[in-house]
Amino acid sequence: MPDLPAADPVSTNILRAEGRVAAADRTSMLGHAGRTVWFTGLSGSGKSTLAFAVEEALVARGVAAYVLDGDNVRFGLNRDLGFSPADRTENIRRIGEVCRLFQDAGLVVLSAFISPYRADRDAVRALHPEGAFVEVFVDTPLELCEERDVKGLYARARAGEITEFSGISAPYEVPEAPDMTVDSTRPLEECVAAILEHVASPGV
Ligand code: ADX
Repeated sequence: MPDLPAADPVSTNILRAEGRVAAADRTSMLGHAGRTVWFTGLSGSGKSTLAFAVEEALVARGVAAYVLDGDNVRFGLNRDLGFSPADRTENIRRIGEVCRLFQDAGLVVLSAFISPYRADRDAVRALHPEGAFVEVFVDTPLELCEERDVKGLYARARAGEITEFSGISAPYEVPEAPDMTVDSTRPLEECVAAILEHVASPGV
């Protein structure tokens, strides 16, 4: 992966093209504004479960919502990336750009990635218009994620079969000022209701 300054494209002689549909036109067509709801937390913290439940609730209300999930995206768009610090940064950079495009298109995009580095999450926030990015910290203690071990990965990480595992042998930087913190030990419906209330804006 080339080591590039964050904002400089490799291409030169490129110019931005402008369409004729404004964000307000999309909002009035869809009945709600676009938004990125960014779930961050350890593996097994409950990010995907929450994101899919919120997606279901939003779609039932007629909101165009869509989940981007860490494991799923690594089967496709990011199939070339592993779990080194540089690859994780690139993973989040690409997802962040996708979120921004979806948000600009008017969708409520729910992203569920560990996204362990604060700077990477902040860079995604910076891509978005003010208020269009909501960081949700799924605050589940490592001990509980490990006890749940839904995918059996923590046991394998402890046994040394998986290296660079977040929380065990790779860092997870807790958000300093998330827009919202969710306690995933609470019932799912309660967490979903709290998230819906928080992300609700006129029309959403
Ligand atoms: S991130 O750190 O780059 O944001 P991402 O959310 O895409 O990670 O992928 C995390 C998922 O990959 C975990 O939920 C887990 O299922 C799987 N995984 C496999 N190896 C690792 C690892 N070394 N560290 C963390 N997760 C891993």
